Amino acid sequence: MNVTKVSDDTYLLSVNVENILFEGLWEIPNGVALNSYIIKGEKTAIIDGVCGWDGVPESLFALLDKLNIDPKSIEYLIINHMEPDHSGWIEDFKKINPNFKVVCSKKSAELLDAFYGHTENVTVVTDDDTLDLGNGHILKFVEIPNVHWPDTIATFDTLTGTLFSCDAFGSFGNATESNYDDMLKSDDIDFYENEAVRYYANIVAAFSMPVKKAIDKCSALPIKIIAPGHGIVWRENPNKIIEDYIRYASYQKGPAKEEITLIWGSMYGMTEKAVNYVVKVLEEENIKFNVHRVPEVSWGTVLASAWNSTGIILAMPTYEYKMFPPMAAVLEELGKKKVFGRKAFRFGSYGWSGGAQKELDEIMNKYCMKWDFIEPVEFKGSPRDEDLQLIETRIRDLVKEVRNAVNS
Ligand SMILES: Cc1cc2nc3c(=O)[nH]c(=O)nc-3n(C[C@H](O)[C@H](O)[C@H](O)COP(=O)(O)O)c2cc1C
Ligand SMILES: [Fe+2]
Ligand SMILES: [Fe+2]
Repeated sequence: MNVTKVSDDTYLLSVNVENILFEGLWEIPNGVALNSYIIKGEKTAIIDGVCGWDGVPESLFALLDKLNIDPKSIEYLIINHMEPDHSGWIEDFKKINPNFKVVCSKKSAELLDAFYGHTENVTVVTDDDTLDLGNGHILKFVEIPNVHWPDTIATFDTLTGTLFSCDAFGSFGNATESNYDDMLKSDDIDFYENEAVRYYANIVAAFSMPVKKAIDKCSALPIKIIAPGHGIVWRENPNKIIEDYIRYASYQKGPAKEEITLIWGSMYGMTEKAVNYVVKVLEEENIKFNVHRVPEVSWGTVLASAWNSTGIILAMPTYEYKMFPPMAAVLEELGKKKVFGRKAFRFGSYGWSGGAQKELDEIMNKYCMKWDFIEPVEFKGSPRDEDLQLIETRIRDLVKEVRNAVNS
């Protein structure tokens, strides 16, 4: 856990969380930072709270100590979003300072009661409401519902131009002492960009429409700094993360990047033979591609990769008259996260009846995914030369379609 200065009277307190599945579900190989912010006007406010994984509240109080802030002097707790990764320490904080006031949206207030039974001293704010902390720090609230829960707001400090954007503009990846874009090298920025896509695809992808609305709404503000609830703070070039998020949201319907994601699974290596052949064809085509075997590779990684890719190749056998089950599970997740409008191709092995294709069609229809499929290739048992030739032709067609979609 660390503390750094964001801007005048404004501090970032971060705790890194590792070795868990985020939301009990998403693998986070590089961890995730949970960010809280302190603003010291004549009155002190804390925005969002980092929760228990790090021995909080003790470590939080140690950080406050570094800033010479007595927890009792924190008058306002601003909850941008009631999800426990932002508010989980409220119970502990209550023990130290029972007199704080909560500022949050109407929906957060309801959730606060439901999750923690907290109802006292709650001020409900809505669009354009303000809170004056003194010394020029007038905070303005912006409702950004469904980024990521229906309760979410962003808080804007009109003095420093800092938008405390909560889950919007966040990324995975642990925080360091240099948790600011102006302190990072371009390699680090690339690292965080990958972490941002992964975060976006796993956490907010399904809410891409609300993300677009939130960006439109926040664009009206004179933003100088973006200070999200997760990941790095954008001080030098806040527009970068705004533009990145606009781009990520646009990937929902496709086209996305000029990339192909190949997702495959195989029981006895028959489909795998064709996968190995396809990898060589893709190398020859000189297009960027990512290969993920299911169930070995986690959903979160496959999802992030598919989110970025305009083309998707699925390779799986038939299993008990249906699709190889881990592939079906991943595709269901892609459907729920609304990975729509991809250029796609599927091939795979079967023994006697087939059935994988039928389930694939069902999933595509169920989630209205509108993937534009090239005719599939199914082969009985091991792929023959003619099967591989046909697959090769279709892969090359797919690559053309991907390039056309991205460049037209
Ligand atoms: C548990 C199991 C269930 C299967 N169910 C079916 C089936 O319902 N219909 C079918 O045509 N083939 C079925 N097969 C045969 C496989 O689709 C076939 O062996 C195929 O070559 C497997 O490809 P792979 O080696 O890439 O996994 C099944 C195979 C196994 C091991
Ligand atoms: Fe959230
Ligand atoms: Fe969050």
